[in-house]
Amino acid sequence: MEIIIQPTPEAATGIAARLLGKAIRAKPASVLGLATGSTMEALYRELVAMKLDWSKLTTFNLDEYVGLSPQHPQSYHSFMWDNLFRHVNVAIKNVNIPDGLAKDVPATCDNYERKISATGGIDVQLLGIGTSGHIGFNEPTSSLASRTRIKTLTPQTLSDNARFFGSESGVPHHVITMGIGTILESRHCVLLAFGAKKARAIAEAVEGPITAMNPASALQLHPKVTVFLDEAAAAELKMKEYYRWVYEQKPAWQKL
Ligand code: GLP
Repeated sequence: MEIIIQPTPEAATGIAARLLGKAIRAKPASVLGLATGSTMEALYRELVAMKLDWSKLTTFNLDEYVGLSPQHPQSYHSFMWDNLFRHVNVAIKNVNIPDGLAKDVPATCDNYERKISATGGIDVQLLGIGTSGHIGFNEPTSSLASRTRIKTLTPQTLSDNARFFGSESGVPHHVITMGIGTILESRHCVLLAFGAKKARAIAEAVEGPITAMNPASALQLHPKVTVFLDEAAAAELKMKEYYRWVYEQKPAWQKL
């Protein structure tokens, strides 16, 4: 795991955007795994400003709320169109987001998995992290081998996401999410986490034991993970000085 600690979320987001820009320019027909959440908003703004060519890219989003139509303002469909897709030249046919209104949820999830495989797999998977340690919507105790499926949100996530729905009771309880096994199959995982609220989840994910109690800790099993943090999110990392030193000593050819 490469841990990149920057003084501010803006600085970390800028480097993450450069990493993605480089990947897209190197392989214009890349398959991107995309994430939602407030952490991603600034990253998508940077990507839009970079005026990259999205015409050959294929995208797969991590998750969606069950029961919300794509037009619902808090659906992840709306999030993606508002924050990214309507501002770039992505081909609509290449955009994939789980269907929150699917009649047959297991079949929809199987199809999503099949479609990811048929494209050749995800090249770069963007990830945020929940305060519970969730990636996508894989809540604590999710199987580390899980595939795309329906999940029930924990009380902590319902409370964290209440701000988007006016109240905790307004947050849908069920979601469709790529599994941890699905995420681990992508070629490169890029996780962004900012703010003191994420510090404990990050410390457990990066330095704790691999455990279903912190789903992001499964990323320790992945050969290529880049984690972008601000100082606040890095605060509880025991080896943060080492990560900083490693980043500063990077040879020029590895720099972003
Ligand atoms: C949601 C999403 C996650 C995201 C998390 C963190 O629950 N399903 O993919 O990582 O929120 O969101 P934020 O960036 O707003 O803290």
